[in-house]
Amino acid sequence: MAFKSYYQWAALALAATAAAQTTTSCNPTNATCPADAGLNKYRLNTDFTSGSLGRWNTTAGTVTFGDYGAEFTVSEQGDAPTIQSEFYIFFGHVDVKMKAANGTGIVSTWILESDDLDEIDWEQVSTWDTEIQTDYFGKGNTTSYDRGTTVNVTTPEETFHTYSVDWTAERIEWLLDGEVVRTLLYADALEGKNYPQTPMRIRIGIWAGGDPDNSEGTIEWAGGETDYTTGPFTMYVESVDIINYNPASAYNYTDMTGDYTSITATNSTSSSSSASSKASSSSKASSVASSSASASAAASSSSFVSGAPVSYYSSIFAIAMGSLIAGLIQV
Ligand SMILES: *[C@@H]1O[C@H](CO)[C@@H](O)[C@H](O)[C@H]1NC(C)=O
Ligand SMILES: *[C@@H]1O[C@H](CO)[C@@H](O)[C@H](O)[C@H]1NC(C)=O
Ligand SMILES: *[C@@H]1O[C@H](CO)[C@@H](O)[C@H](O)[C@H]1NC(C)=O
Ligand SMILES: *[C@@H]1O[C@H](CO)[C@@H](O)[C@H](O)[C@H]1NC(C)=O
Ligand SMILES: *[C@@H]1O[C@H](CO)[C@@H](O)[C@H](O)[C@H]1NC(C)=O
Ligand SMILES: *[C@@H]1O[C@H](CO)[C@@H](O)[C@H](O)[C@H]1NC(C)=O
Ligand SMILES: *[C@@H]1O[C@H](CO)[C@@H](O)[C@H](O)[C@H]1NC(C)=O
Repeated sequence: MAFKSYYQWAALALAATAAAQTTTSCNPTNATCPADAGLNKYRLNTDFTSGSLGRWNTTAGTVTFGDYGAEFTVSEQGDAPTIQSEFYIFFGHVDVKMKAANGTGIVSTWILESDDLDEIDWEQVSTWDTEIQTDYFGKGNTTSYDRGTTVNVTTPEETFHTYSVDWTAERIEWLLDGEVVRTLLYADALEGKNYPQTPMRIRIGIWAGGDPDNSEGTIEWAGGETDYTTGPFTMYVESVDIINYNPASAYNYTDMTGDYTSITATNSTSSSSSASSKASSSSKASSVASSSASASAAASSSSFVSGAPVSYYSSIFAIAMGSLIAGLIQV
């Protein structure tokens, strides 16, 4: 089974729809880019049942609101409503509570993606009612499509589940309803070369992988051809809870390596900021913390963490679970 990055799927979908959506407008491993706008607070929760997008932008299609939150609907060929956080986070924890759409070939997805095309994915393909896929990419390297795994999930099209990512410099955890279902260590991603490590935006969307105009491989991956007459197909997103482990108003790539140690986080708008601080690398040294506190439990005490230095946040969340999940299905 071949896995592609969301970036590639989006490109495919765009090719099919000719919508005007940009992916990465400036790749910092290849050019000097403006700094990224950061989330300069520790935690931001968006409750979409309020009927408002909050600090999210619609980048394709139209998102509507109902009792279950934000509604992402595919009714006809070319529909691929997508939203994106207007800010970046630099390591963090994201919980997305959602219900996937039901329909052959319809893909409900949320991802983290950076300007140099680091990517962390959750993807639910409707056709496969009991499975969801995790995936990741580093610096847009898609030469090998062997990074995806499949996770079992109960009735994702009938039930709201919380699909989470906990992302540090040491490891990425994918969590389903609070339980870690996959861990990727830095070293296991081609000695870090393929490890997602640059400031990311969160993107949530739906699209028809099974669109008849897509390539045969894409349609097959999506589980078959989409029949729009059986639609519309709607994904519901109730809420998104975001924790930024390095709150800052701007992130700057100080060189073209795309390495996390090259990123500066600052609250100053001037480019020669003295308040600028390198991303904590002390978190790297604390990777064997054995705390059993769950990230969300620790995070819920936001007043407790809000006064602590960044390196302290990092160590709280550096919960080593690397050996816990070793035997996931490799598709
Ligand atoms: C670097 O930038 C050039 C010009 O914008 C582009 O053609 C090329 O594909 C880029 N390379 C990478 C690795 O992004
Ligand atoms: C995103 O939405 C905000 C309002 O929430 C707006 O200020 C901003 O200009 C939008 N950004 C883009 C790229 O459309
Ligand atoms: C999903 O769609 C199929 C085909 O239309 C239908 O048989 C099934 O009951 C639907 N499942 C849910 C959860 O709505
Ligand atoms: C891309 O990743 C593959 C392994 O998935 C690796 O063999 C290759 O060297 C990587 N390419 C670059 C440019 O890092
Ligand atoms: C998923 O479910 C299948 C069938 O019930 C089972 O064989 C498989 O081991 C499960 N996979 C995981 C990762 O739990
Ligand atoms: C930026 O300001 C926020 C909110 O006061 C603070 O939590 C954060 O540590 C600051 N970041 C930097 C890099 O100074
Ligand atoms: C980013 O860092 C580079 C290298 O240190 C510097 O030249 C540039 O001015 C910075 N850009 C911003 C927007 O701070």
